Amino acid sequence: MVATEEITSFCKEKGYVYQTAEIYGGLSGFFDLGPLGVDLNNNIKNFWWKRFVQQRDDIFGIDGAIITHPKVWEASGHVDNFMDIMITCSQCKEKIRADHFIEDKLGIAADGMKADEINETIQKNNLKCPNCGGGFKETSDFNLMFTTNVGPKVSKENTSFLRPETAQLIFTNFKLVAEHSRAKLPFGIAQVGKAFRNEISPRDFIFRAREFEQMEIEYFIHPDDVSNCPWVEEAYETEFNILTAEMQEKGIEKTKKLTGKQAYEEGIIKTPWHVYWLHHALKFYIDLGANPENFRLREHLQKEKSHYALETWDIDYKFPFGWKELTGAANRTDYDLNQHIKHSKKDLSIFDENTQKKVVPFVVAEPSFGVGRSFFVFINEAFSDDKERGNKVLKLDPRVAPIKVGVFPLVNKLQDEAKEVHDELKIDYPAKFDRSGSIGRRYARADEEGIPFCVTYDFDSREDDSLTIRDRDSTIQKRVKRVELKETLQKLINKEKKFSDI
Ligand code: GAP
Repeated sequence: MVATEEITSFCKEKGYVYQTAEIYGGLSGFFDLGPLGVDLNNNIKNFWWKRFVQQRDDIFGIDGAIITHPKVWEASGHVDNFMDIMITCSQCKEKIRADHFIEDKLGIAADGMKADEINETIQKNNLKCPNCGGGFKETSDFNLMFTTNVGPKVSKENTSFLRPETAQLIFTNFKLVAEHSRAKLPFGIAQVGKAFRNEISPRDFIFRAREFEQMEIEYFIHPDDVSNCPWVEEAYETEFNILTAEMQEKGIEKTKKLTGKQAYEEGIIKTPWHVYWLHHALKFYIDLGANPENFRLREHLQKEKSHYALETWDIDYKFPFGWKELTGAANRTDYDLNQHIKHSKKDLSIFDENTQKKVVPFVVAEPSFGVGRSFFVFINEAFSDDKERGNKVLKLDPRVAPIKVGVFPLVNKLQDEAKEVHDELKIDYPAKFDRSGSIGRRYARADEEGIPFCVTYDFDSREDDSLTIRDRDSTIQKRVKRVELKETLQKLINKEKKFSDI
C-alpha cells in the first residue's frame, strides 16, 4: 500500500495536483489541478458521462447553477440538517470535527453519533485537545454550506448558498427535463459539477476537500416498480464484498462475499434497483483497471443516514488511510420531489403512460460519485515504484491517461522526422514530443507521466518507414508501419486491441 504522503508528493512533482495558491501558503481543503491533473480529471468525467449518459437512452444530462436559490436548500432540508458536530477547545479555541476526532483517538466508528453520545465519549475517555491539551466545551452543530451574497445589497434575503451536492438541481429541473426529453419512467437525470462543503477538518489530501466535484445520477422509477428492475440480471451475478449495518453493530469488520442475487434474496440489499446501481458504480472502477478486492459495499447505520435516505450503501475503497466512502448510493424515495412540491407549490408529478395516471416518482438509488476521490483511486491503483526499471510507473488505463502517446527521435539528428509524426498524431489525441536526455530517461519520464505508448523514430525508420511502439506496462516493443501507426494507436488507446495482438 502506497502512503498518502507519497501519492501527494508524486502528484505535486508530476503536475497532477497542487495545493491552491501555494505561494501564499495554500488554503486548507482547496486544490488546483496541474497540466496532467486537469486532463486526467476531465478524462474521468468524460468516461463517466459517455458511459452513463451518452451510451444510454434513459439518462439525460443537465448542468445547473452552482449558486442556488436559497429556497432549494430550505426545501431539501440542508438548511436544517446538513450539519456536522463540532467541538471547540476551551483553551486555544481550536475547532475540531467531533466524529473524526473520536474515530482517530479511539478507533471506533463515530459517524452519526449524536451530541449527547459525543460529549459522553469525550468525558469518559478524558479526550483532550490535540493542539494544546485543553478540555472541550459542549458540542455545537455546524452547517457545512458556504453562504454568499447575491447582488450588492448585503442582507439576509440576498444570502444564497453554494450547492453542497449537485443532486438538488436535478430535482428542481426534473419536470422540465422529463417534458423536454419526452422521458418515460424509469429514467435518470445526470449532472457532473462542483460542490462545496465547508468541512470542519478537511484532510487526507483530496479525499476530503471543501471544493470538489461530483458525478451524480437521480434515477426515477414508478413507486409501484420498486421491486421491478428489468435489467438486474448482470448485477445479480456480480460478487460484492459486503458489510451490513448489523455486522458493524456486532463489531464485525471482515466483509462477506455475496452475489447481488444473494444480497437481494437474503433481504440485505432491499431493492433490485440498488443492486443494479451498485453493480454499475463498482463496474466503473473495475473496468478502468481497479482491483475488485479494494472495494466493499458498506450499509449505513441507522444513525448515520442522511435526512433524506431510507437505505444507503456506500462503495468504500481501501484508501492508504483505511476503508472510506468512495461513492454513495442512497434510496431517497420521493422525499426530494415532494419537498419541492410543498415548498414551491408547483406540481412536479408527471403523467405515466402505463398506468395512465399522474405520479411523483421514486429515486430508489442515487449513485453519487466524487470526482476527486475517483482521481485518488485511479492514481493509487496505477502507481508503483518499479525497482527493476529504477523509476515510478503510473499504469493508468489508456482511456483516462492524460497523454496517450510519447513521440521520440532516437537521436536529435532524427528530430524533424519524429516531429512530423508527432504533429500528425496530436491531431487525434494528446501526444507529447520529447527529445531531451537518453531514450531510457525519456521512457522513464513517460512511465511516470502515465503515458501508455511511446513511439520512437530511429535510423531504420528512414529505410523501412516503420517505427517502434513501446508498451508502458510490459516495456515490450513492436515495429509498426507508419501507414498503420495512427489506427493501431487509436485501437490500443480505446482498448479495442491488445498490445500482444499487434
Ligand atoms: N447527493 C448525495 C450526496 O451528496 P454524499 O455521500 O454526501 O452524497 C457523494 O456525497 C460523494 O461526493 C461521496 O461519495 C464522495 O465521493 C464525494 N464527496 C462528498 N464530500 C466530499 C468532500 N468533502 N471532498 C471530496 N469528495 C466528497
